[in-house]
Amino acid sequence: MHPLALLVGIVALSHGALAAKVCPRPPEVLFATINVDKQVYEVGEEVEYTCRPGFMPNNGQRKYTCLPTGKWAFNTLLCLPKRCTPPGPLENGKIDFVELQYQSTINFSCEPGYNLVGSKTSQCMSDGKWTGIFPQCQPVTCPPPPIPEFGVLSYRRSKPGNVSHFLDTITFECVPPMALFGNETATCTANGTWSSIPECKVVTCPTPIGIENGFIEFAVRRTYHYNESVSFGCQPTYVMEGSKHSRCEKSGNWSTKPICRAPCKIPVKKAVVLYNGEKKRVQNDLKEGILHGETVSFFCKNKEKSCAYTVDVACVDGNFTLPACFKERGFFSTLVKKDPSDMKPCEDEA
Ligand SMILES: *[C@@H]1O[C@H](CO)[C@@H](O)[C@H](O)[C@H]1NC(C)=O
Ligand SMILES: *[C@@H]1O[C@H](CO)[C@@H](O)[C@H](O)[C@H]1NC(C)=O
Ligand SMILES: *[C@@H]1O[C@H](CO)[C@@H](O)[C@H](O)[C@H]1NC(C)=O
Ligand SMILES: *[C@@H]1O[C@H](CO)[C@@H](O)[C@H](O)[C@H]1NC(C)=O
Ligand SMILES: *[C@@H]1O[C@H](CO)[C@@H](O)[C@H](O)[C@H]1NC(C)=O
Ligand SMILES: *[C@@H]1O[C@H](CO)[C@@H](O)[C@H](O)[C@H]1NC(C)=O
Ligand SMILES: *[C@@H]1O[C@H](CO)[C@@H](O)[C@H](O)[C@H]1NC(C)=O
Repeated sequence: MHPLALLVGIVALSHGALAAKVCPRPPEVLFATINVDKQVYEVGEEVEYTCRPGFMPNNGQRKYTCLPTGKWAFNTLLCLPKRCTPPGPLENGKIDFVELQYQSTINFSCEPGYNLVGSKTSQCMSDGKWTGIFPQCQPVTCPPPPIPEFGVLSYRRSKPGNVSHFLDTITFECVPPMALFGNETATCTANGTWSSIPECKVVTCPTPIGIENGFIEFAVRRTYHYNESVSFGCQPTYVMEGSKHSRCEKSGNWSTKPICRAPCKIPVKKAVVLYNGEKKRVQNDLKEGILHGETVSFFCKNKEKSCAYTVDVACVDGNFTLPACFKERGFFSTLVKKDPSDMKPCEDEA
């Protein structure tokens, strides 16, 4: 026998006797593979774990040796899923997700009025990147709106091209004398349709009717169109209340016309009164009366104190009421007594 063969035989024998122990399969680590996979491992034999794609080892040991005890050292390795970088933000939209790790799915959606361009979902890949191209939320567009007959369009903002986007507004006008019915403003809705389109219609108002104690200026007997107006005047000494103009309204009615308020005669034959801060004789200076809205002050006598005080009276549309304290004087009293207007004024009028 060859001496070497003998030596091999002795080593083999002694080995079998001393190291009867072997290691079983090493413990499985979730999401990891081992380099040598078999049923039985010799003492001293080494295995190495590798995390599967998409997973990362924690700081636990990756190499283990089959110990003489026939056991593997306590396994501290964990393979954890890789994280993808948080995506986004998605402008005018949102991203729904639960987790951002390997194989997680995220969903993209857009706010009302925006359309998603691109993929609705994306997955976290083993290389830490997301599948696909990041999507975009593009505003809905509205086609050029239909223009009402006799209408004109005025874009509020000038646009490159003539595309309107979600929430853009446009305004309509009607060609005079047409009247606009509906909403003059339309908005591009989330639907891609315009909120509303107004109508332009003919409106006529009947020949305007005059007013009491007044007249229509330069009126032509005809029907009038929307927004045409007529002016009014009052007879002399009448005072106009309200707007001088009346306009033909959408309803086909005339807007409120002015009113002519009547002047007042002062119902005394003779008296001295205050008018615009000056003493006036009614019989001379105020024969024609006063205008609506004007005021005169009458002098009244306080007998006890021998003084005079004034009471204001206004002309209200032809109505004029003398103050109760005022006494019209007869011919005789004017000769012997002082007129109240010449008496000293009372300290505090009462
Ligand atoms: C993503 O969308 C799918 C299908 O609509 C749904 O089943 C899933 O729950 C959504 N995921 C998230 C995180 O919202
Ligand atoms: C839209 O634009 C095109 C050219 O830019 C023009 O020919 C067309 O008349 C426009 N349409 C409207 C409705 O303005
Ligand atoms: C007209 O439409 C706009 C939206 O386009 C809306 O905000 C507005 O309230 C509407 N006006 C009337 C009087 O309905
Ligand atoms: C969307 O369009 C439909 C008809 O096509 C309409 O009934 C609905 O009111 C629109 N919604 C909005 C928000 O404009
Ligand atoms: C109505 O007429 C007046 C001028 O008299 C003008 O200023 C106004 O813009 C007109 N309104 C409409 C809605 O046409
Ligand atoms: C306007 O005229 C109509 C008839 O055309 C009438 O029914 C309505 O009461 C009028 N409205 C006003 C505010 O005068
Ligand atoms: C004017 O007097 C008359 C009759 O006394 C009365 O009916 C009317 O309401 C008065 N007008 C005013 C504006 O006071």
